[in-house]
Amino acid sequence: MRVLLTGGTEFVGVHLVRALTRDGHEVTVVNRGRRPERLPGSVRTLVCDRKDHAALRRTLAGERVDALIDVAYAPTTGEDVEALLDALEGRVGHALFVSTGRVYDHARPIPFDEDTPRTLYWGEYAKHKIAGEDACLRRHRARGLPVTIVRPTHVLGPLNTRNNETFFFDRLVRGRPILLPGAGGWLRQFGHVEDLADAMAAMLGVEAAFGQAYNVTGEEAVTQVGFVELIADVVKRPLTLVPCPPPPAGGPSAPFGQNLLYECHAVYTTSKIRGELGIRPRYTLAAGVAQTFEWYLREGLDRREIDFSLEDALLRAAGR
Ligand SMILES: NC(=O)c1ccc[n+]([C@@H]2O[C@H](COP(=O)([O-])OP(=O)(O)OC[C@H]3O[C@@H](n4cnc5c(N)ncnc54)[C@H](OP(=O)(O)O)[C@@H]3O)[C@@H](O)[C@H]2O)c1
Repeated sequence: MRVLLTGGTEFVGVHLVRALTRDGHEVTVVNRGRRPERLPGSVRTLVCDRKDHAALRRTLAGERVDALIDVAYAPTTGEDVEALLDALEGRVGHALFVSTGRVYDHARPIPFDEDTPRTLYWGEYAKHKIAGEDACLRRHRARGLPVTIVRPTHVLGPLNTRNNETFFFDRLVRGRPILLPGAGGWLRQFGHVEDLADAMAAMLGVEAAFGQAYNVTGEEAVTQVGFVELIADVVKRPLTLVPCPPPPAGGPSAPFGQNLLYECHAVYTTSKIRGELGIRPRYTLAAGVAQTFEWYLREGLDRREIDFSLEDALLRAAGR
C-alpha cells in the first residue's frame, strides 16, 4: 500500500514508520523536516508545516494514497485535520486519526469504553482531539470516506518524549528516592509503542474498522505506586518512596513524573479492538518496561546530566 503519515520522526511516528516499512508498504511522511536522520532511506519526505494550510494543499496536490495516518500533534486542531483531508480530497483510501483516551470524561466510573461520553475534562488537548475525530467522522458519514479513530492511552517505549518511565529510570539508576505526592492509588494503563504501531498497521484497509473508534493500549491497569514498584523490580534497584504534599496549582513544575500527578483513574477497555479486529498487544507491562530500560542503557541515558535541585529542596523539606 501507499501510506502517507503526518510526522514520522518522533516517538509514535518513528515506530509506525518501522512497522509500515517492515510490512512492505511504500511510506511517505509529511513534516517540517527537522529530524530527517530518523527516517530510513526508503521513506519519502514531504517538507511542510501542517498549520500552513495553503502550503499543505500545494505539497499534497499530486499525492494519491491507499492510507493516510494523521499522527502529528502540532498542536493539531479540528481545522488542521479538515485542511489535511481537503488537501487529499478524493485521493485517500482509508484515513486513520491518532486521537487519545483523554477524549473521555474521566470524572465517570472506570473502565472507559469507546462509547464513554467525550468531554473537555482534559482541556485544550481533548478539545482538539475531539474536533479532529469529528472532522474525520463527518467525512465518513457525509461522503463515505473510510476513517478509523485510534485512541491510545499512556504510551511507553524507546524514544518516548513523555516522562512515563524514563522519569523513574533516571532516579532509580542513580539511587535516588522517588517523591510521592498523595497516596499513589490512582489507576493507570500503559501501552507499548510497538503494539500501538502494529495495531495501526494491522488496521489499514480493514473494512470492519471503517467509521469506528478503538482504544489501543495494554491489558494491565496498575496503581501509580504499583507502576513505580514494577519498574524498580524490572531494573533491579531498591525503591524508596518519599511522601510529600502535591505542588500548588500554577506553581513551578514539580518533579513527580506525569503519572504521579493527576488525580483520577485512567483505565480503558480493549475488548472492542480484540473482538472486532482480533488485535491484541504483544507486550506485558513488565516486558515493555524491560525492553525500554535496555534501550535507555544502550543510549547512555543513565549517564546524562539532570538537574535535581528542585527535588533536593523538596526532599530536605520532607526531612531527607
Ligand atoms: N505519548 C502518549 O502517551 C500519547 C497518548 C495518547 C495519544 N498520543 C498521540 O500520539 C501522537 C504522538 O505522535 P509522535 O510521538 O510522533 O509525536 P508528535 O509530537 O505528535 O509529532 C511529532 C512529529 O510531527 C512532526 N510535526 C510537528 N509539528 C508539525 C507541524 N506543524 N507540521 C508538520 N509536522 C509536524 C514532527 O516533525 P518536525 O518537527 O520535523 O515537523 C515529528 O515528526 C500524537 O497525536 C499524540 O496526541 C500520544
